Amino acid sequence: MAHSPRPGLGPGFWQVAIGLTILNVIVTILIVVYPIQNILPEAAAPARNIDDLFKLLSVFGNAIFVYVVGFLIYFTIVWRRRPSDSPEAIGIQIHDAPKLELWWTVIPTILVVIIAIYSVKIWSDLQNSPGDALTMEAIGHQFKFEFRYAALKNSVYDEMHLPVDTPVSVHVTSDDVIHSFWVPEVRIKADMVLGLIQTLRFTPNNVGKYRIICTEFCGTNHGDMVGTMYIDSAADFQKWLAATSKSQNGGAGALVLSKGDAALGRALFGQKCSTCHSTGPFEQKIVGPGLGKLASDPAHPDLVTGEPVTPQNVASILQNGYGGNDLSTGKANPPIGTMPNQQANAISNGDIANLVAFLLSMSKK
Ligand code: CUA
Repeated sequence: MAHSPRPGLGPGFWQVAIGLTILNVIVTILIVVYPIQNILPEAAAPARNIDDLFKLLSVFGNAIFVYVVGFLIYFTIVWRRRPSDSPEAIGIQIHDAPKLELWWTVIPTILVVIIAIYSVKIWSDLQNSPGDALTMEAIGHQFKFEFRYAALKNSVYDEMHLPVDTPVSVHVTSDDVIHSFWVPEVRIKADMVLGLIQTLRFTPNNVGKYRIICTEFCGTNHGDMVGTMYIDSAADFQKWLAATSKSQNGGAGALVLSKGDAALGRALFGQKCSTCHSTGPFEQKIVGPGLGKLASDPAHPDLVTGEPVTPQNVASILQNGYGGNDLSTGKANPPIGTMPNQQANAISNGDIANLVAFLLSMSKK
Protein backbone atom coordinates (compact mmCIF):
# COMPACT_ATOMS: atom_id res chain seq x y z
CA MET A 1 0.00 0.00 0.00
CA ALA A 2 1.48 3.31 -1.07
CA HIS A 3 1.66 5.80 1.73
CA SER A 4 1.74 9.51 1.02
CA PRO A 5 2.00 12.39 3.46
CA ARG A 6 -1.37 13.78 4.32
CA PRO A 7 -2.40 16.62 6.58
CA GLY A 8 -4.31 15.93 9.75
CA LEU A 9 -3.73 14.74 13.30
CA GLY A 10 -3.49 11.03 12.55
CA PRO A 11 -5.79 8.05 13.08
CA GLY A 12 -7.07 7.64 16.59
CA PHE A 13 -5.79 11.05 17.75
CA TRP A 14 -8.86 11.92 19.78
CA GLN A 15 -9.04 8.49 21.40
CA VAL A 16 -5.40 8.91 22.48
CA ALA A 17 -6.17 12.43 23.73
CA ILE A 18 -9.04 11.11 25.85
CA GLY A 19 -6.84 8.28 27.16
CA LEU A 20 -4.09 10.72 28.18
CA THR A 21 -6.68 12.98 29.83
CA ILE A 22 -8.01 10.09 31.91
CA LEU A 23 -4.43 9.17 32.92
CA ASN A 24 -3.75 12.80 33.78
CA VAL A 25 -6.87 13.07 35.95
CA ILE A 26 -6.04 9.85 37.82
CA VAL A 27 -2.44 10.90 38.56
CA THR A 28 -3.58 14.42 39.52
CA ILE A 29 -6.03 13.00 42.05
CA LEU A 30 -3.29 10.76 43.47
CA ILE A 31 -0.95 13.74 43.82
CA VAL A 32 -3.58 15.85 45.57
CA VAL A 33 -4.87 13.13 47.87
CA TYR A 34 -1.73 11.19 48.82
CA PRO A 35 -0.10 12.50 52.02
CA ILE A 36 3.58 13.28 51.42
CA GLN A 37 4.32 12.68 55.11
CA ASN A 38 3.75 8.98 54.45
CA ILE A 39 7.00 9.10 52.49
CA LEU A 40 8.83 11.88 54.32
CA PRO A 41 7.54 12.75 57.81
CA GLU A 42 6.93 16.36 58.78
CA ALA A 43 8.73 17.71 61.82
CA ALA A 44 7.98 21.44 61.77
CA ALA A 45 5.30 23.96 60.98
CA PRO A 46 6.32 25.09 57.48
CA ALA A 47 6.56 21.53 56.15
CA ARG A 48 2.84 21.38 55.26
CA ASN A 49 3.02 24.59 53.21
CA ILE A 50 6.12 23.42 51.37
CA ASP A 51 4.36 20.13 50.62
CA ASP A 52 1.34 22.00 49.24
CA LEU A 53 3.61 23.99 46.93
CA PHE A 54 5.29 20.77 45.85
CA LYS A 55 1.87 19.28 45.08
CA LEU A 56 0.87 22.30 42.99
CA LEU A 57 4.10 22.04 40.99
CA SER A 58 3.58 18.29 40.60
CA VAL A 59 0.03 18.73 39.30
CA PHE A 60 1.21 21.10 36.55
CA GLY A 61 4.37 19.10 35.91
CA ASN A 62 2.42 15.87 35.63
CA ALA A 63 -0.03 17.31 33.09
CA ILE A 64 2.79 18.66 30.93
CA PHE A 65 4.67 15.38 31.18
CA VAL A 66 1.68 13.18 30.33
CA TYR A 67 0.57 15.16 27.26
CA VAL A 68 4.03 15.93 25.89
CA VAL A 69 5.40 12.41 26.27
CA GLY A 70 2.08 10.76 25.37
CA PHE A 71 1.70 12.63 22.09
CA LEU A 72 5.41 12.34 21.35
CA ILE A 73 5.10 8.56 21.46
CA TYR A 74 1.82 8.62 19.53
CA PHE A 75 3.13 10.82 16.69
CA THR A 76 6.38 8.89 16.52
CA ILE A 77 4.40 5.73 15.81
CA VAL A 78 1.71 7.19 13.54
CA TRP A 79 3.98 9.35 11.38
CA ARG A 80 6.99 7.05 11.24
CA ARG A 81 8.69 6.49 7.88
CA ARG A 82 7.08 3.54 6.07
CA PRO A 83 9.08 1.11 3.91
CA SER A 84 7.05 2.32 0.93
CA ASP A 85 8.10 5.98 1.47
CA SER A 86 10.73 7.40 -0.87
CA PRO A 87 14.17 7.91 0.78
CA GLU A 88 13.88 11.65 0.17
CA ALA A 89 10.45 11.95 1.76
CA ILE A 90 10.18 14.66 4.41
CA GLY A 91 7.34 15.47 6.75
CA ILE A 92 4.64 17.98 6.02
CA GLN A 93 6.09 21.48 6.41
CA ILE A 94 3.82 23.66 8.53
CA HIS A 95 4.41 27.40 8.96
CA ASP A 96 2.43 29.82 11.09
CA ALA A 97 -0.33 28.45 13.26
CA PRO A 98 -1.44 31.62 15.09
CA LYS A 99 -4.20 29.89 17.03
CA LEU A 100 -1.85 27.19 18.34
CA GLU A 101 0.91 29.67 19.06
CA LEU A 102 -1.50 31.87 21.02
CA TRP A 103 -2.55 28.96 23.26
CA TRP A 104 0.93 27.58 23.83
CA THR A 105 1.95 31.04 24.97
CA VAL A 106 -1.12 31.98 27.02
CA ILE A 107 -1.55 28.71 28.93
CA PRO A 108 2.06 28.37 30.18
CA THR A 109 2.07 32.08 31.07
CA ILE A 110 -1.00 31.63 33.26
CA LEU A 111 0.50 28.53 34.90
CA VAL A 112 3.80 30.26 35.65
CA VAL A 113 2.02 33.31 37.11
CA ILE A 114 -0.07 31.08 39.39
CA ILE A 115 3.04 29.22 40.56
CA ALA A 116 4.92 32.49 41.10
CA ILE A 117 2.15 34.05 43.21
CA TYR A 118 1.77 30.92 45.33
CA SER A 119 5.57 30.54 45.81
CA VAL A 120 5.99 34.16 46.87
CA LYS A 121 3.15 33.81 49.36
CA ILE A 122 4.74 30.74 50.95
CA TRP A 123 8.17 32.41 50.99
CA SER A 124 6.80 35.49 52.70
CA ASP A 125 4.90 33.35 55.25
CA LEU A 126 8.19 31.58 56.01
CA GLN A 127 10.06 34.86 56.47
CA ASN A 128 7.33 36.32 58.65
CA SER A 129 6.66 33.25 60.76
CA PRO A 130 7.35 33.66 64.47
CA GLY A 131 10.75 32.39 65.56
CA ASP A 132 12.06 34.36 68.48
CA ALA A 133 11.14 32.14 71.44
CA LEU A 134 14.53 30.41 70.99
CA THR A 135 17.36 31.97 69.02
CA MET A 136 20.50 30.01 68.23
CA GLU A 137 23.38 29.79 65.77
CA ALA A 138 24.50 27.02 63.42
CA ILE A 139 27.98 27.24 61.93
CA GLY A 140 29.40 24.96 59.25
CA HIS A 141 32.97 23.68 59.57
CA GLN A 142 34.99 21.21 57.54
CA PHE A 143 33.47 18.77 58.51
CA LYS A 144 31.04 19.31 61.32
CA PHE A 145 28.10 21.42 62.41
CA GLU A 146 28.60 23.74 65.37
CA PHE A 147 25.62 24.92 67.39
CA ARG A 148 25.60 27.81 69.82
CA TYR A 149 22.96 28.36 72.47
CA ALA A 150 22.70 31.51 74.54
CA ALA A 151 22.29 29.37 77.66
CA LEU A 152 25.50 27.38 77.04
CA LYS A 153 29.03 28.61 77.64
CA ASN A 154 30.51 26.49 74.83
CA SER A 155 29.30 25.27 71.48
CA VAL A 156 27.93 21.79 70.92
CA TYR A 157 28.78 19.83 67.78
CA ASP A 158 26.80 17.72 65.33
CA GLU A 159 23.93 17.55 67.77
CA MET A 160 21.15 20.08 67.92
CA HIS A 161 18.32 20.03 70.43
CA LEU A 162 15.08 21.96 70.03
CA PRO A 163 12.01 22.09 72.25
CA VAL A 164 8.80 21.04 70.50
CA ASP A 165 6.12 23.66 69.70
CA THR A 166 8.54 26.51 70.33
CA PRO A 167 9.21 28.97 67.50
CA VAL A 168 12.96 29.01 66.78
CA SER A 169 15.29 31.20 64.76
CA VAL A 170 18.48 29.55 63.60
CA HIS A 171 21.13 31.95 62.32
CA VAL A 172 23.15 30.01 59.81
CA THR A 173 26.69 30.74 58.62
CA SER A 174 30.05 29.11 57.90
CA ASP A 175 33.57 29.21 59.30
CA ASP A 176 35.35 28.17 56.11
CA VAL A 177 33.90 26.99 52.79
CA ILE A 178 30.26 26.89 51.70
CA HIS A 179 28.20 24.24 53.44
CA SER A 180 24.45 23.77 53.36
CA PHE A 181 22.16 23.09 56.29
CA TRP A 182 19.30 20.76 55.45
CA VAL A 183 16.78 18.88 57.55
CA PRO A 184 14.46 17.08 55.13
CA GLU A 185 11.66 16.60 57.68
CA VAL A 186 11.60 20.34 58.38
CA ARG A 187 11.62 21.01 54.61
CA ILE A 188 14.07 23.84 55.19
CA LYS A 189 17.50 24.31 53.73
CA ALA A 190 19.99 27.17 53.68
CA ASP A 191 23.52 27.53 52.42
CA MET A 192 26.08 28.21 55.14
CA VAL A 193 28.32 30.91 53.72
CA LEU A 194 31.33 32.58 55.33
CA GLY A 195 30.47 36.23 56.01
CA LEU A 196 26.77 35.78 55.38
CA ILE A 197 24.19 35.12 58.09
CA GLN A 198 20.87 33.69 56.99
CA THR A 199 18.00 33.11 59.37
CA LEU A 200 15.73 30.07 59.33
CA ARG A 201 12.46 30.33 61.23
CA PHE A 202 10.30 27.36 62.05
CA THR A 203 8.34 25.71 64.81
CA PRO A 204 9.20 22.07 65.49
CA ASN A 205 5.98 20.11 65.98
CA ASN A 206 6.99 16.47 66.02
CA VAL A 207 9.16 14.98 68.77
CA GLY A 208 11.89 12.77 67.32
CA LYS A 209 15.37 12.40 65.91
CA TYR A 210 16.15 13.78 62.47
CA ARG A 211 19.20 13.97 60.24
CA ILE A 212 20.94 17.25 59.49
CA ILE A 213 22.72 16.89 56.17
CA CYS A 214 25.34 19.08 54.52
CA THR A 215 24.20 19.37 50.92
CA GLU A 216 27.03 21.40 49.47
CA PHE A 217 30.20 19.59 48.42
CA CYS A 218 32.61 21.11 50.92
CA GLY A 219 35.69 18.91 50.69
CA THR A 220 36.87 15.34 50.88
CA ASN A 221 34.84 14.47 53.98
CA HIS A 222 31.65 16.19 52.83
CA GLY A 223 29.84 12.85 52.94
CA ASP A 224 30.59 12.49 56.66
CA MET A 225 29.09 15.86 57.47
CA VAL A 226 25.88 14.67 59.06
CA GLY A 227 24.38 15.89 62.32
CA THR A 228 21.34 15.06 64.37
CA MET A 229 18.41 17.29 65.23
CA TYR A 230 16.57 16.16 68.33
CA ILE A 231 13.13 17.63 68.78
CA ASP A 232 12.51 17.17 72.51
CA SER A 233 9.61 17.76 74.82
CA ALA A 234 10.04 21.04 76.73
CA ALA A 235 11.08 19.10 79.86
CA ASP A 236 13.62 16.94 78.00
CA PHE A 237 15.07 20.01 76.34
CA GLN A 238 15.61 21.73 79.69
CA LYS A 239 17.15 18.53 81.04
CA TRP A 240 19.59 18.35 78.11
CA LEU A 241 20.46 22.02 78.48
CA ALA A 242 21.16 21.59 82.20
CA ALA A 243 23.26 18.43 81.71
CA THR A 244 25.29 19.96 78.90
CA SER A 245 25.86 23.14 80.84
CA LYS A 246 27.05 21.13 83.83
CA SER A 247 29.53 19.06 81.81
CA GLN A 248 30.86 22.23 80.18
CA ASN A 249 31.62 23.71 83.56
CA GLY A 250 34.36 21.26 84.44
CA GLY A 251 32.89 17.78 84.44
CA ALA A 252 36.02 16.15 83.00
CA GLY A 253 39.23 15.39 84.87
CA ALA A 254 42.06 17.87 85.21
CA LEU A 255 44.81 18.12 82.60
CA VAL A 256 48.01 16.56 83.98
CA LEU A 257 50.60 16.60 81.22
CA SER A 258 53.16 14.54 83.15
CA LYS A 259 50.78 11.56 83.02
CA GLY A 260 50.81 11.49 79.22
CA ASP A 261 51.41 8.10 77.56
CA ALA A 262 53.04 8.35 74.11
CA ALA A 263 51.85 4.89 72.99
CA LEU A 264 48.22 5.73 73.77
CA GLY A 265 48.78 9.10 72.11
CA ARG A 266 50.03 7.39 68.95
CA ALA A 267 46.86 5.28 68.69
CA LEU A 268 44.69 8.32 69.30
CA PHE A 269 46.62 10.32 66.69
CA GLY A 270 45.68 7.68 64.12
CA GLN A 271 41.99 8.05 64.99
CA LYS A 272 41.66 11.76 65.59
CA CYS A 273 44.49 13.65 63.91
CA SER A 274 45.82 11.76 60.90
CA THR A 275 43.02 12.96 58.60
CA CYS A 276 44.63 16.42 58.73
CA HIS A 277 48.20 15.88 60.00
CA SER A 278 51.04 13.66 58.82
CA THR A 279 53.90 12.52 61.06
CA GLY A 280 56.34 13.94 58.51
CA PRO A 281 58.05 17.35 58.55
CA PHE A 282 56.11 20.65 58.68
CA GLU A 283 55.95 20.96 54.90
CA GLN A 284 54.26 17.56 54.53
CA LYS A 285 50.81 19.06 54.86
CA ILE A 286 47.47 17.29 54.56
CA VAL A 287 45.17 20.02 55.86
CA GLY A 288 47.44 21.19 58.66
CA PRO A 289 51.23 20.93 58.83
CA GLY A 290 53.14 17.69 59.46
CA LEU A 291 53.90 17.25 63.17
CA GLY A 292 56.76 14.74 63.10
CA LYS A 293 59.45 17.36 63.85
CA LEU A 294 57.40 19.53 66.17
CA ALA A 295 60.29 20.18 68.55
CA SER A 296 63.26 19.57 66.24
CA ASP A 297 62.73 21.67 63.12
CA PRO A 298 65.22 24.54 62.70
CA ALA A 299 62.95 26.13 60.06
CA HIS A 300 60.06 26.17 62.53
CA PRO A 301 61.57 26.66 65.97
CA ASP A 302 58.27 27.95 67.36
CA LEU A 303 54.70 26.69 67.29
CA VAL A 304 52.28 28.17 64.75
CA THR A 305 50.99 30.29 67.63
CA GLY A 306 54.41 31.97 67.71
CA GLU A 307 55.01 30.49 71.15
CA PRO A 308 57.91 28.23 72.12
CA VAL A 309 57.43 24.46 71.85
CA THR A 310 56.55 23.47 75.41
CA PRO A 311 54.15 20.70 76.44
CA GLN A 312 51.83 23.31 77.91
CA ASN A 313 51.74 25.37 74.70
CA VAL A 314 51.12 22.28 72.54
CA ALA A 315 48.31 21.28 74.90
CA SER A 316 46.86 24.75 74.62
CA ILE A 317 46.46 24.37 70.83
CA LEU A 318 44.75 21.01 71.34
CA GLN A 319 42.40 22.60 73.88
CA ASN A 320 41.51 25.74 71.98
CA GLY A 321 41.81 24.71 68.35
CA TYR A 322 43.54 26.89 65.83
CA GLY A 323 42.53 29.77 63.55
CA GLY A 324 44.73 29.07 60.52
CA ASN A 325 47.52 31.68 60.44
CA ASP A 326 51.14 30.62 60.88
CA LEU A 327 52.23 33.16 63.46
CA SER A 328 55.69 31.60 63.82
CA THR A 329 56.61 33.16 60.50
CA GLY A 330 54.21 36.09 60.72
CA LYS A 331 52.76 35.03 57.38
CA ALA A 332 49.11 34.26 56.86
CA ASN A 333 49.77 32.68 53.47
CA PRO A 334 49.80 29.95 52.54
CA PRO A 335 47.12 29.20 55.14
CA ILE A 336 47.85 26.16 57.28
CA GLY A 337 44.24 25.12 57.86
CA THR A 338 42.04 25.58 60.89
CA MET A 339 41.64 23.09 63.71
CA PRO A 340 38.55 22.59 65.89
CA ASN A 341 38.90 22.76 69.68
CA GLN A 342 39.00 20.03 72.29
CA GLN A 343 35.24 19.75 72.55
CA ALA A 344 34.71 19.58 68.80
CA ASN A 345 37.34 16.87 68.49
CA ALA A 346 35.75 15.05 71.44
CA ILE A 347 39.02 14.48 73.28
CA SER A 348 39.38 14.41 77.06
CA ASN A 349 42.10 16.04 79.13
CA GLY A 350 43.71 12.60 79.45
CA ASP A 351 43.69 12.30 75.64
CA ILE A 352 45.44 15.65 75.37
CA ALA A 353 48.17 14.57 77.78
CA ASN A 354 48.71 11.39 75.75
CA LEU A 355 48.77 13.28 72.44
CA VAL A 356 51.28 15.83 73.73
CA ALA A 357 53.52 13.00 74.95
CA PHE A 358 53.33 11.30 71.55
CA LEU A 359 53.86 14.49 69.52
CA LEU A 360 56.96 15.50 71.47
CA SER A 361 58.33 11.93 71.48
CA MET A 362 58.52 12.00 67.66
CA SER A 363 61.06 14.82 67.78
CA LYS A 364 63.40 12.88 70.06
CA LYS A 365 64.19 10.16 67.50
CU1 CUA B 1 29.88 20.65 54.64
CU2 CUA B 1 29.44 19.38 52.68
